[in-house]
Amino acid sequence: MSLKHNLVQISDTHLFSDKNLSLKGSNTYSNLKKTIEAVSRLKEKPELVLLTGDLSQDYTPESYKHLKELLEPLKIKYYLLPGNHDDVRIINKVFQYNWVKDQVDYSFEYNEWFFYFIDSTVFPNNWGELSDKQLIDFDKMISLKKNIPIIVFMHHHPVPVRSKWIDEMALKNADAFNKIIRKNPQIKAVLFGHVHQVFEEIIDGVFYTSAPATSYQVVPRVDNFAVEKLVPGFKFISLQDNKFSSKVIWV
Ligand SMILES: [Fe+2]
Repeated sequence: MSLKHNLVQISDTHLFSDKNLSLKGSNTYSNLKKTIEAVSRLKEKPELVLLTGDLSQDYTPESYKHLKELLEPLKIKYYLLPGNHDDVRIINKVFQYNWVKDQVDYSFEYNEWFFYFIDSTVFPNNWGELSDKQLIDFDKMISLKKNIPIIVFMHHHPVPVRSKWIDEMALKNADAFNKIIRKNPQIKAVLFGHVHQVFEEIIDGVFYTSAPATSYQVVPRVDNFAVEKLVPGFKFISLQDNKFSSKVIWV
């Protein structure tokens, strides 16, 4: 039996420059602070923290500085992806990245796993889309990794979550993306944020799942936007022996 690796997915933090501001009734700064504290108390220590977009709500350098300051004390390596509420130019300044707008794709091997982060944003639109180049690069890279389990991380949802209002802001060219996913059974899970609700479904043999937001959750499977829960949550992921498992932890 191989070593178990634990990860945490945090999503949709929606921070403001002003730590006292609320979004839909939630103070997003204190929600993230509580979430990070809960992560630091986990008995099974995560090795990585993965943030799947909508880091900021107001595109300010201060909002990203708050994120950085909240993450640093964890002393756990973290990886970010932009969401539709993020400005890559500002993220680059605060985190000293060299990201290119709408093309923040990167991947790496992690122990016996392979992680692919794909940038679904099309700044400044709310919906997502992948360029032809992104799809080609993704297809090429994944085909080279036939014998290693893969997890794909993204912001927008590539499958409908059956809420009309948010499905209108899904990944536009999801069919092209899912076609690549389907022909690569070594892809164990596709993880996303954006939907502010927990979604877990096996579709065509692939596990599609979202992390809850740390900011606020919405009522799932309804046509119109409605806030459901104000408590933050995150996803705890375990990888062992080619097997992906995850659970939601409410804070
Ligand atoms: Fe969001």
